[in-house]
Amino acid sequence: MNVDYRWRAEVGDDELVALTRSHGGTPEPGWWDRIRPHSLGWMTAREPDGGLIGFANVAWDGADHAFLLDPKVRPDQQRRGIGTELVRHAAAEARRAGCAWLHVDFEDHLRGFYFDSCGFRPTHAGLISLA
Ligand SMILES: CC(C)(COP(=O)(O)OP(=O)(O)OC[C@H]1O[C@@H](n2cnc3c(N)ncnc32)[C@H](O)[C@@H]1OP(=O)(O)O)[C@@H](O)C(=O)NCCC(=O)NCCS
Repeated sequence: MNVDYRWRAEVGDDELVALTRSHGGTPEPGWWDRIRPHSLGWMTAREPDGGLIGFANVAWDGADHAFLLDPKVRPDQQRRGIGTELVRHAAAEARRAGCAWLHVDFEDHLRGFYFDSCGFRPTHAGLISLA
């Protein structure tokens, strides 16, 4: 299938709600409208008919650090390389915007995706729950 990958292309909050719901996530309507102003950019992947099948957001610190957030691929299109392509494009666009580093964190079962397929390397990182 021909997948259309785009950086900063229009994507609706309702589309992201549907995509999140499709993989069992808990979507929060209005989330994208709130998040978007803080984004350096985002990748969309669409089917030839325009349907949204993949998304990844890139936040940043306004300088050289970019942060990959919320990559997702619709379940019926997973394991076809779409997630890897989304991240590859997102990294290239962040580099083009002047960023020097792309950070990500993830659950252990996705080590293969991020380290082997997407090319991230392990580093020390820390996290404090503020909830
Ligand atoms: C994680 C995700 C974006 C990967 O998208 P994808 O299009 O399926 O990824 P790719 O096809 O590019 O995968 C490349 C490789 O990464 C690894 N991989 C991908 N998804 C994986 C998963 N769920 N579990 C373990 N390994 C995985 C595999 O090695 C895969 O190669 P293979 O299919 O030849 O075995 C997708 O599974 C998803 O949307 N998950 C639900 C949302 C989510 O958890 N997002 C991550 C938040 S940190």
